[in-house]
Formats: sequence, C-alpha cells, structure tokens
Amino acid sequence: MCGIVGYIGRKTAAPVIINGLQKLEYRGYDSFGIATIGSGIEICKHAGRISENARSALHLNGTIGIGHTRWATHGVPNDINAHPHTDCKNRFGIVHNGIIENYAELKRQLIARGHRFLSETDTEVVAHLIEEEYTDNLLSAVQSVVPKLKGSYALLVISPEEQRIVAARNASPLVIGIGDGEYFAASDMTPILEHTERAIFLEDGDVASLSRTRIEIYHGKDPVDRPVELVDWSVEDTKKGGFAHYMLKEIYEQPLTFYNSIRALDKEATPAIAKKPSSVAIVACGSSYHAGLISKYLMEETCGIPVRVEFASEFKYFPPPVSCLVIGITQSGETADTLTALKQAKSHNCPTLAITNVLGSSVSRIADTTIFMRAGPEISVAATKSFVAQLAVMMQMVNLISNEQFTKVLLHAHRAIDDVLLKDLSDAVATCKQAQSIFYVGRGAFYPVSLEGALKMKEISYIHAEGYAAGELKHGPFALLSKDTPVIAICMPDDTYGAMISNIKEMKARGAPVIALGIEGDGELADIVDIFIPLPKTHKFVQILTSLVVLQLLAYHTAVALGRDVDKPRNLAKSVTVE
Ligand code: G6P
Repeated sequence: MCGIVGYIGRKTAAPVIINGLQKLEYRGYDSFGIATIGSGIEICKHAGRISENARSALHLNGTIGIGHTRWATHGVPNDINAHPHTDCKNRFGIVHNGIIENYAELKRQLIARGHRFLSETDTEVVAHLIEEEYTDNLLSAVQSVVPKLKGSYALLVISPEEQRIVAARNASPLVIGIGDGEYFAASDMTPILEHTERAIFLEDGDVASLSRTRIEIYHGKDPVDRPVELVDWSVEDTKKGGFAHYMLKEIYEQPLTFYNSIRALDKEATPAIAKKPSSVAIVACGSSYHAGLISKYLMEETCGIPVRVEFASEFKYFPPPVSCLVIGITQSGETADTLTALKQAKSHNCPTLAITNVLGSSVSRIADTTIFMRAGPEISVAATKSFVAQLAVMMQMVNLISNEQFTKVLLHAHRAIDDVLLKDLSDAVATCKQAQSIFYVGRGAFYPVSLEGALKMKEISYIHAEGYAAGELKHGPFALLSKDTPVIAICMPDDTYGAMISNIKEMKARGAPVIALGIEGDGELADIVDIFIPLPKTHKFVQILTSLVVLQLLAYHTAVALGRDVDKPRNLAKSVTVE
C-alpha cells in the first residue's frame, strides 16, 4: 500500500526521491507526489503512474524532500488527494502512510477554527494541526501533534523554515537509512539499499529529527537510542536482472530461496516455543494463509499436532484459543489483519511466533519470537518466492519437531524445483487463456496447493479461478462445468490418488477439459486427461513445491499471453496495511 520516501543531504532531492518511489511501486499505488524545500515548499503530485508523470517532479529544487505513493482509502485517487499535503499557508508539507482514525472529528474542529481544507484525505488534518502547534521548532510541533492522532501513521514533515525532516511512526513501517552526510527515510529498505545498508527501524511512538549531520530520536518527548542495523539484502535483488518481469525472476530464484530459507530455522536456534507445541493456530492472509493450510496438513500428519488455520481477518470472531502457540505468517510483516490477530492472541496469553521476510517489520515487535525467512526482497505483487520461503520454514519446523527425519529431503528439494522451471506449458497456457473460469482441484495437502494456484491465476491474469477440494466440486460447481471451464487437477501418487482419478473422470464426463499435474510415467493419469504435466518423482514435500512452481508459471505465462501488467496487477497491493 502507500509508500513514503524522504531525503536530506547534498544531492538534489527530487531525483533521489523519484527513484526511491519507483522502488516502492511494487507495494501498489494509484497516485504519487513529491515536496521539496526550494523556493518555499515546491510540490508536484499526480494521479497515475510515476513513469508517465515524473518529468515535472524532477524539476523541483532543493536538497531536502519527501515523496509518497498513495493507495486511496479516504478520497478518490486524483491529483488533489495525492500527497504531500500542506497547511493553510503552505508552511508545512507532509506525507503519511496509515489511517488517522479520528480525522473526521479533528477536521470538524479545525474547520471551526478557520482552517481551509483542499483534499478529502484523513492526512491533511495533520498539516493543519502542525500549523497550530508550530512556534519555532518543527520537532516540538510534531511531538505535540502526534498524541492527538488515533490510528496508524508513518509521517514525514518538512518546512522551509527548518533544514530538517521530522519523522514519526505509529503502527506503520518507517526505516531511516544512514548515509554519509545524508539521511533517507522510507517505508521499507528497497529505496534505501542502493545508498546504504545501515538502517534504524523506528519504534511505535518514536519521533525523529533528521538534519544533514545528525539524527535525534525521541520516544514521545524522551530522547532514545535505537540500534543501527546492517541490512544484508543486495541491491541486485531489487532489479529485474534481465528477466521480463520481477515475477519471473522471483519464480526462478525459488530453488535458492528454498535452500536458504530452510536454514532460517535450526535446532540450536529454534525458539523453545516452536519445538513441541501441543497445539497450534496459524493466522495469515492471502498466499500466507495458503502456506498455513499446507503446513496444517504436514504438521498434523507428521507430528500429530492439531493445527487450526484462520484468516487473520476472521480470527477475532472466533473464541480465543486457550493455550496454543499462535503462528502469524506474513511475508511483509505489516499486514494489518495479521498484526491484529497476533495482538489478540497475546491478549489471551498465547505464546506467539511470527514468520516474516522483513527485518524490522511491525510483526517482529508484536510476536514473542520472530523467524526471518531470508527470501530477499520480493518486488512483484503476487507472492512467489516468499511463499516458497514460508513453506521452507514450516517444513523445517515439521522436520525439527519430528526428529529431523526429512533433513535429506529438504536439502535436496531445490534440485527438483530447478527441474520444473523449464517445463513446456504452452498447451496448458493456450487452454487457460481462452477460459472465462478455471477450477483447480486437489486433495489433502494438494487442496491448498490448488487454492494458491487459483489465487495466482486470478491475481495476475484476471481470469476467474477457484481452488476446490476435489471431492467438493460435485456439491455445486459441477453445475458450472462445460468445455469452456478447464479443470486443473493435482493428482499425486499418495493415498488420495484413487479418489482423484474418480473425480477427474467425473469432471471429464461433464465435458470439462482437464489439465493434470502428476508424476512422470503415470500412464493411467496421462490417458484420461487432456493435458498431462509430468513432475519429477520425489517425496511428498517436494511434490508440493514442484506443483506450486508449475502453477505459478502457468499463471505467469497465461497473464503474459493476455498482455496483463504482471508485476502490478490492477487494484492489488503487496502489503495491505488496513483492516
Ligand atoms: C496482499 C498481497 C498477497 C499476500 C497478502 C498477505 O494481498 O497481494 O500476495 O499474500 O497480502 O501478505 P503478507 O505480507 O501478510 O504475507
């Protein structure tokens, strides 16, 4: 969702900020803007893509500036609602991520006191509040304003009267990059990486002042020290590296990702709570939820541990778990629903564990213990390598709990993932790209694999796709089957095989073309389906991974064939920071 970037140093700020905002495009946005301190506050903001409108912004003057990519919540995406926003006299420019929940009341009071509002946003109230509080010190003014705000915010504020940026954070990510005679502020490390790997992750309630020569951080009004962390993500990871899309690059990175991510957890470092929980609840959203569902099958089957998996957004409507370990899976570490669910679990005294990809992300401040899954930055909106990394961590957890009986399997899994990357999927793509609707089916752990395959397809190709437990299709969706609704069946040689074969025959009998993922050499399956995609003969854990990778590739190539904006699908955001 929204992204912010700030710069103070010796360089012209605008190009640094535009470049930084482009690095944040992956989060999803509908408008953008920049403000610099030049002759007064200079502002340029537009609805639409940065690449189409960046030219005018590049002419802004000054070496101090702030920028924003907006994903509309309060007010339509247009030039006026785009950030930065200012006060009545253009003395303060601000950008904001998050939601000011009490903005309506604040706005009423401010209007009653004579303030004029230009936008429909919640953010603009902050500029007017600073206008009221400012005497001669921007830091003090912001410190006085933040206690009046309810909700979430990462704020950057500038004023032509001061040579600094003031930043504030509450429940919305904000990282400060420390350069040589320059500071950067951003929603995550991706815009900062090419300048410095030294970073400070602000805490909720922090207000910071960044001048060219120093940073001062306060928690409320008290000065505090925050550690400087070294972030070892490589800049190359944030580039396409010759691939047509980030998504394809990230799919191809998965053998290495899996290999690295199983090491995110080892016996010595495994947090005590993850070693042998008596029962587990997993809370997550989107693809992470599917990773949770797959983990449930593996953990229950292999370790005998009961696992419930809930959409994080629904967790609050269930009675609290009594004493189970609650695991929050979230690649971004910022998904509002997952954070809320973990807070709720904590309020019921449940031990909590987070699995995330982002160092310093909000989830690591909430959970008792955090496992960082080491997937490197994922830029494409559709989760691929972060999903495989989540599975790597969860499979390793199952392995450690079950006396390491799968170590060899996990250590060699990357080879099989590598083998399927070059699969020829042209026939399957030709079938899918004409479809209005596609069903994905599987049984056991392959049922959530089918959910993830369908999610990938709908996210990036815009074709309606549904994952179903194969046995459930006859309880309703059969009414929709025809020659125009392909079914993608995942049919592996385990105890679900016989039932899957029967289900596939039932679907064929209703006229649906069936594309099957199975194990190479499976003549019985190949004979009854329209298109057979053979996968290497491997352990079940690895079959889960290889079938997922093939489904990612199928979605990718179908979306490309349809000319979709693969990395930035319409209406979606990479990190959803509102409930
Ligand atoms: C968004 C993304 C999905 C992601 C979901 C959960 O909807 O578009 O790809 O799976 O959020 O994100 P998280 O960061 O919590 O894993």
